[in-house]
Amino acid sequence: MTNRFRHRLAATAFAIAIGGTAGIGIAAAPPEVASCAGCHGANGMGNPAAGFPALAGLHAGYLEQQLYAFKHGTRANAMMNAMGASLNAATRAKIAAYYASLPVPPVAEPDPAPSGLGAQIAMQGLNTGTPHAVPACASCHGDAGLGQGRFPRLAGQSAAYLSAQLVAWQKGTRGETPLHLMRHIARKLSPADITAVTAYYAALSPNPAPGAPAAASPDSPPNAKAGAKKPG
Ligand code: HEC
Ligand code: HEC
Repeated sequence: MTNRFRHRLAATAFAIAIGGTAGIGIAAAPPEVASCAGCHGANGMGNPAAGFPALAGLHAGYLEQQLYAFKHGTRANAMMNAMGASLNAATRAKIAAYYASLPVPPVAEPDPAPSGLGAQIAMQGLNTGTPHAVPACASCHGDAGLGQGRFPRLAGQSAAYLSAQLVAWQKGTRGETPLHLMRHIARKLSPADITAVTAYYAALSPNPAPGAPAAASPDSPPNAKAGAKKPG
């Protein structure tokens, strides 16, 4: 057993001893996050009405990369360029670890599950087999839009925020790693596609409450993602 692992076990045991399960695994909050809470919420769940995204539970490497991009201007946003300017690499890493460790509160899935063009783009993609093919968003962001690793969670982010990101890729004001995956995808989406798919994801729960119906509409074919292009 490595020292690090042993340390983590000890920390977990301590968390159980002092507070049941609630505090397990939440990284220490660096002082800088006090200045983030006004927009991203004390619980890191953002402010959908204002278009401030939720950060809680996103992958630490993804968050760190975004803070780096805001600081260096490869992701343009006046508010976040200003916020990121003063953060050095060590602080960015601590902030990212903190938000990544925050739990996402369970939220009931809306009823009925959204369907239509947005669901189609999300689960099956568009124009499969043509040069204009848009891969199913779910093939990277997960069937319920909850994200996986550096593919961030889309479920529950506001439609205004999500569509601003797709438009930013179309305009070239948001860069990204790796492989410009999203730039290529965003440029194949029409304004109507963007409206539909962002409304779809905004309506999904960021952490479906136990017993909630599955995110995918029940009539999606089981191989809905078969037409998805491989990442790359
Ligand atoms: C004045 C409001 C405001 C404050 C304060 C603020 N943010 Fe933001 N944040 C935003 C907005 C608006 C966006 C969306 C930017 C965009 O559209 O690209 C954002 C986006 C982000 C993202 C990208 C999320 C994603 O899913 O890609 C991260 C990470 C982030 N903020 C971290 C922070 C941190 C860390 C702090 C504190 C040091 C902070 N923010 C303070 C408004 C704010
Ligand atoms: C091949 C994999 C892949 C597919 C397919 C894909 N994405 Fe992404 N997506 C990514 C990656 C990687 C990122 C993170 C980009 C970065 O590092 O800035 C991302 C980020 C995003 C973001 C930004 C989220 C945030 O918090 O700022 C949005 C919005 C998004 N994708 C929407 C979509 C939509 C809509 C589709 C389907 C039309 C889609 N994606 C399909 C890989 C993918």
